[in-house]
Amino acid sequence: MKLWGGRFETGPSEIFERFSGSLEFDRRLIGADILGSQAFARALEQAGILSAEERARIVDALDRIREEAAGPEFFEGAADEDVHTLVIRKLKEHAGAVADKIHTGRSRNEQVSLDLRLWLRGECDRQHGLLGGVMRALLDLAGRYPDAVIPGYTHTRRAQAVLWPHYLLAYFEMFARDAERFAEARRRADAMPLGSGALAGSGFPFDRQAMARDLGFAALTANSMDVSADRDFALDFLYAATVTMLHLSRLAEDWILYSTEEFGWLELADEVTSGSSLMPQKKNPDALELIRGKCGRVLGCLNSLMVTMKGLPLTYNRDMQEDKEPLFEAAVQVGGSLEMAGAVIASARLNAERPLAAAQESWVVATDLAEALARAGTPFHQAHQLVGKLVLESVRTGKKPADWTADDLRRFAPEFTADMARLLDPREGLRTREVAGGTGPGAVARALEQARARLAELL
Ligand code: ARG
Repeated sequence: MKLWGGRFETGPSEIFERFSGSLEFDRRLIGADILGSQAFARALEQAGILSAEERARIVDALDRIREEAAGPEFFEGAADEDVHTLVIRKLKEHAGAVADKIHTGRSRNEQVSLDLRLWLRGECDRQHGLLGGVMRALLDLAGRYPDAVIPGYTHTRRAQAVLWPHYLLAYFEMFARDAERFAEARRRADAMPLGSGALAGSGFPFDRQAMARDLGFAALTANSMDVSADRDFALDFLYAATVTMLHLSRLAEDWILYSTEEFGWLELADEVTSGSSLMPQKKNPDALELIRGKCGRVLGCLNSLMVTMKGLPLTYNRDMQEDKEPLFEAAVQVGGSLEMAGAVIASARLNAERPLAAAQESWVVATDLAEALARAGTPFHQAHQLVGKLVLESVRTGKKPADWTADDLRRFAPEFTADMARLLDPREGLRTREVAGGTGPGAVARALEQARARLAELL
């Protein structure tokens, strides 16, 4: 069946049908398409196009189609151009001639917009929930090692000591912003487009407010041409998905490193790692590598739709059918990656003595010492120079911070006072960083408490 054809002398070629059809992927929208068509039938009744009895027949038939569509053979052999055409064909089979009225004053252009918006609302909620799972796993992991100390890095060089929970909370913040982005993407999708027609507005006096209430939309779209031309809401979702993947990818990269034999900080669970077909000793971080790899794919989806939309003349162009595969692809990949990351985080174990030793063996305490000197009155630039010299001397003589005594320090420079020697232990310097958002134990405990409350509010 076609939703058009009168103007043509011959039908489309097999090659064109195969090339242009979208049912293979837009079948995912069938639930949304049925919901939208049922609401549209009610609007047609209000507008005097359908009788109450006709409307009931259509709505009931669509209910039955929804049930059938859950079965495995529903789409088998279907040769319809797209999901909208398929639903109308099925409606004809179930409800008879009245089905010919369902498309009165409606265009597939607004229908695609509606279906995508309905689908995206649910998808944003799903990703939001999955993000909550990852955030909870991070907080649980932080709670298991509340006092663990690691060297924080800049330039992949040991920089300053931080608490392990502080490091995990950095990712918590990223995912909290991602959750906000998905909520914002949902808000932008949450506008009801029906009544726009193909591009000029419907020729029938629909009560658009009533349709929006019926479908649970928070707002109405304001311009019919914009509706046919707009995929911003899909881009918003793809952007949220891409940034989420970017954060997951950075976590994956960190943890791939931290679980190497060279680092030895993290032990990834057997359940989320795999072996080698040749090398019996291997335990590979494939789950994390796949997350990192899929980030590229999702970014490609955003890029793909951006490029598709760039330069399209108003309003609808068939190019826009290319919106769906990247959108679905991104949703599947970000959802799967969030689930996987949640499982990796929940099952990870920290060998806390390793990162502590890494912090103690290096000069991450240098800043603590320089700041202590500055607190005692040495101008910071001179304090920096002085500690730099101390580090240089240590590098020359092979001394670790713990090899220095208070007396050694004072002999090295009179600016060092006896109490500064305790800062040679990286766990001590941490305590000076109680500024809000810092890695001081009190600040981190408060941040953890706030994070737990924020998570409870989010979910
Ligand atoms: N399958 C099409 C899509 O997803 C439906 C819209 C078709 N509209 C049209 N004017 N050809 O974009």
